[in-house]
Amino acid sequence: MLRSVWPVSPASLTPHLPVLAREVVAWLDVEPGMTVVDCTFGAGGHAALLAEAMGGRGAYIGLDRDPTVREHFAGFRDAHPDMSARFVRGNFALGLRNLAATGVRADAILLDLGVSSMQIDQPERGFSYATDAPLDMRMDPSEPRTAADLVNESTERELADMFHRYGEERFSRPIARAIVRRRAERPYTRSGELVDTIRGAIPKPALFGQGHPAKRVFQALRIAVNDELGALDLGLEQALEVLRPGGRLAVISFHSLEDRAVKHFLRDAAAGCVCPPDLPVCGCGREPLLRVLTPRVVRPGAAETEENPRAASARLRAAERTEVERP
Ligand SMILES: C[S@@+](CC[C@H](N)C(=O)[O-])C[C@H]1O[C@@H](n2cnc3c(N)ncnc32)[C@H](O)[C@@H]1O
Repeated sequence: MLRSVWPVSPASLTPHLPVLAREVVAWLDVEPGMTVVDCTFGAGGHAALLAEAMGGRGAYIGLDRDPTVREHFAGFRDAHPDMSARFVRGNFALGLRNLAATGVRADAILLDLGVSSMQIDQPERGFSYATDAPLDMRMDPSEPRTAADLVNESTERELADMFHRYGEERFSRPIARAIVRRRAERPYTRSGELVDTIRGAIPKPALFGQGHPAKRVFQALRIAVNDELGALDLGLEQALEVLRPGGRLAVISFHSLEDRAVKHFLRDAAAGCVCPPDLPVCGCGREPLLRVLTPRVVRPGAAETEENPRAASARLRAAERTEVERP
């Protein structure tokens, strides 16, 4: 395992611009005195806007698995003395489960998925293919497996499947083969070494015009290291428990795998009876737990992507909790 690079001071990092900020505030429709659970607090960009819409009153619970976020949260709390503000460090899947178990009920829940600009711009954390750095990629440094561990210990088949599934990488097999050949000489420790292998494994004509050649493999590794899709599935389930009737959920995702998972979850939770139409009475007893508010996914406009190119792939979906109790 790699040497830890923690703690990192967030003060030195590039601030994170909240994406689809106006839209999030509008869809969550918060009011003074409400309780908001922000599952991905980050730099608190959305939090500042939501707190403003709450008139600086109510309760704000921020979750994040990255310990450096604690300092951002402290700034947020100081700026909102009339608000009850609490930070819970850890995976939101677990955090939401604990909130549900302790009887917390929220009027609004936000999930702004993926990594923050601060995390990407901190080279030591190894999220970026643009700078040579330790191959780490953990959002939470107490997690046991780094990206280097995954690259050095997974089988060729596991690597190829990971790059194909989480990165939609066309050349997943040749890249996995090249990694296994290279690591037999020396295990990977640096992101630059992996970038070199990827460049060497991709056919020359395909190296140009498709973005950085390592982009998809790095995305796949990040998703796997942080079990991002597993956390999303569990988090969405738990959000249903924490939302009070009429409470709203907004989810911002940054790639098609996440967005597909969100879309299917919302559609499924919003489905009522699934009995065949020729059945005289309902036998399934299913009632909608959610009402989908965004029939079409919400994307950033040209002005936002011009100002913040990282917003380009963002997709927002929102839903409202119904009165129906879970079976
Ligand atoms: C896109 S940033 C959020 C930015 C924030 N909305 C803002 O405006 O500053 C995503 C944040 O979510 C955190 N995160 C991602 N997955 C998480 C999970 N499963 N549990 C808790 N935090 C998570 C990351 O550590 C990161 O700080």
